[in-house]
Amino acid sequence: MSGFLISLEGIDGCGKTTQARLLKERLEREAIPHLLTREPGGTAAGEKIRLLLLQQKEHSLTNNTEILLYMAARAELVETVIGPALAAGQLVICDRYVDSTVAYQGYGGGGDRDWIRALNEKAAGNCRPHLTFLFDLSVEEALRRRGSGGDRVEERALSYHRRVRQGYLAIAAAEPERIILIDAAAPAERQHREIWTKLRSLVPLLETGGFDEL
Ligand code: TYD
Repeated sequence: MSGFLISLEGIDGCGKTTQARLLKERLEREAIPHLLTREPGGTAAGEKIRLLLLQQKEHSLTNNTEILLYMAARAELVETVIGPALAAGQLVICDRYVDSTVAYQGYGGGGDRDWIRALNEKAAGNCRPHLTFLFDLSVEEALRRRGSGGDRVEERALSYHRRVRQGYLAIAAAEPERIILIDAAAPAERQHREIWTKLRSLVPLLETGGFDEL
C-alpha cells in the first residue's frame, strides 16, 4: 500500500464531521488529491446497511447483529473503495473506521472485543489506519451540541455514551503512536490548525511543503 489512511473518531456530537469538512476544504485549497469517505456507508450497499443500522428503528438489532452489519459495510468499503485508493497512492480520510466498532459495540454495548478485533482484521486488515484523530469531549457537552433524540445510537443512555468515550480513551492509550487526541471542546478552527500541523509533519504525501503558513 503506497497511500496514506487517516481515520477520524469520537463520540456522537464531538464535531468530527465538521473537522472532516474543514480538512477536505483545506486539501482542496492546497490541491492535494484525496478521498473522503465515511462509515457505515461510503458504498451503495454500505449506505443501505447504514439506514438499517441507524434509521430503521422498527427493527430491533442485537449488539452482535450490529457488529456483523458494521463489519459487512466495512468489508465492502475496504475492498471496493479504500483498498484501491490506497493502492493508487491516494490520501484517504475515513469519518469513523475500525475503532468505532471496538468503542461502541465493544465498550458501549459490552460485546466481545477480541472477536471485534479479529473481525476488523478480516474486514480491514490490509488497510489499517496509519493515523487516527480522536476528538475527545465530555458526553454532557456532546449531548448539548447534538440535542436529544436522533438515530438509534444517539438516543441511547448517557451511560452508554460514557462507556464509548472511556473505550476510545483506552484504545488511544494503548496505541499512542497512531492515535492523536484532539480536545474537541476547543474552537473548531484551533482543532483544525492542530490537525493540519500534525498532518504536514506526519503524512509523507504532504511533506513536499509549499503550503500557505497558517
Ligand atoms: P456518524 O458518522 O457520527 O453519524 P452522524 O454524524 O451522521 O450522526 O456515526 C454514525 C453512527 O454509527 C454513530 O452513532 C456511531 C455508529 N457506529 C457504531 O456504533 N459502530 C461502528 O462501527 C461505526 C462505524 C459507527
